[in-house]
Amino acid sequence: MAPEMALNQQYQKSIDIWSVGIIQFILFNMGKHPLHNQNDKKKDFLKKIKNPVWVFPENMNEYLFIILVFNFYLSCQKHFFLKTAAFNPDDRMTAQQALKHTWISGEGYFSDPITINDIYTCIVNIQINNTITPVNSDKEYQEIKKKMNEQYADEAEQEQGPMLIQKLEEHGINNGDIKKLIEAGFQTVQSVSFTIKKNLLQIKGMTEAKIDKILDIACKLVPNDFQTAAEYLQRRAQVINISTGSSELDKILGGGMETGSITEIFGEFRTGKTQICHTLCITCQLPKSKGGGEGKAMYIDTEGTFRPERLEQIAQRFGLDPQECMENVAYARAYNCDQQNKLLIQAAALMAESKYSLLIVDSSTALYRTDFLGRGELSVRQNHLGKFLRNIQRLADEFSIAVVITNQVMSQVDGSAMFAGDMKKPIGGNIMAHASTTRLYLRKGRGESRICKIYDSPCLPESEAIFGISQGGIADFNE
Ligand SMILES: Nc1ncnc2c1ncn2[C@@H]1O[C@H](COP(=O)(O)OP(=O)(O)O)[C@@H](O)[C@H]1O
Ligand SMILES: [Mg+2]
Repeated sequence: MAPEMALNQQYQKSIDIWSVGIIQFILFNMGKHPLHNQNDKKKDFLKKIKNPVWVFPENMNEYLFIILVFNFYLSCQKHFFLKTAAFNPDDRMTAQQALKHTWISGEGYFSDPITINDIYTCIVNIQINNTITPVNSDKEYQEIKKKMNEQYADEAEQEQGPMLIQKLEEHGINNGDIKKLIEAGFQTVQSVSFTIKKNLLQIKGMTEAKIDKILDIACKLVPNDFQTAAEYLQRRAQVINISTGSSELDKILGGGMETGSITEIFGEFRTGKTQICHTLCITCQLPKSKGGGEGKAMYIDTEGTFRPERLEQIAQRFGLDPQECMENVAYARAYNCDQQNKLLIQAAALMAESKYSLLIVDSSTALYRTDFLGRGELSVRQNHLGKFLRNIQRLADEFSIAVVITNQVMSQVDGSAMFAGDMKKPIGGNIMAHASTTRLYLRKGRGESRICKIYDSPCLPESEAIFGISQGGIADFNE
């Protein structure tokens, strides 16, 4: 019974909306009426209806993302409830509005549709205040969103980058030992805490006791504990995408090449793999607002196809100073697999010194095909490749850089077609498949166009984009 009835006043269709509100509350709160208690007499109940005071259930703990999302929906539900069971009939939604409310339709009541980001904003809100803030109006909702975004931006600023290994000195590790760690390729505290003890024991002149002590300190400085999914989501929000130069391609990639993970580009010769690598070397230097990574690029070339002249042309297209851009690209040529792997030690040293946002390995597998021959050497080859890929993954984690590696394809011999109408598959087998977070397959399209297909990704749908190769690097295709 709506208040206007209890008060013997005139009433209209909106009394039904009141009942909708009460019923959905009961359904969602394990059968409990928002006003009526078991021991209430009719008189008490009517009195409460005439002057309703809402008591909402305690909010749930914030440990699981799922519960947080649920909490968000609870606040939607609360909003719906307050808008249906509003005391003043004029304040109640109409049935049409109710059907459009987020709580019922999943979208639309608020001025823009609710996205995962908005949910996230509310999660942060819940985490910080440890309460659900009921969102009673669109204006209020937008305000909370704005406030939380600001708060979140502040926190993101404070996030620290890689911690140099020299930091260990402050914790009682002597200079000589730090030097030994650096010689072995450990430039940051992160690299120590991410490695297994067995690898550290191989460093000459280090006792096990000393290594235990170092690991102990490293793990305290860079804790690798469980975190909640919400915390992880917050960390993921720092992942940026570096533009490929083609807006069509960026679109299917969610903005471009992701930092902190490995993207593998595979395809036949002349499909544009090396051209993408060159373009990224420039775009990664752009400001974040322009799709860049605000960092330097590092290029490991195993095929001898790196061309600094191309960088000049691409820099001009993006309005950057070509000379300056080229200064920001560290280039090394590797002639065998061991060199390819050893270069990563120097890479870590350079990355610890200044801000890099990209590492290219073009191609990551070519030398493996020439250095290891035949089936007999396959398992040794895969082990070596596995180690290389683990090392680049470590760099991606440690320095939050985008790692982009290219790969060739070979004809499928076993006949199990991987792509319909196309019997090619990338080199490197399972080891490669597992190491690459995102796998992109390039092929030629009509005319001079190229087609990129997302072949494997943890969060992008399988889709295709057409792009072109221009004087200024990768671009949208113009016929
Ligand atoms: N300056 C340029 N302008 C336009 N297209 C170019 C330019 N330089 C190279 N290309 C094109 O790029 C293609 C080669 O791409 P590349 O990235 O080297 O292939 P992959 O590394 O996959 O073998 C060729 O088709 C070539 O015509
Ligand atoms: Mg190439």
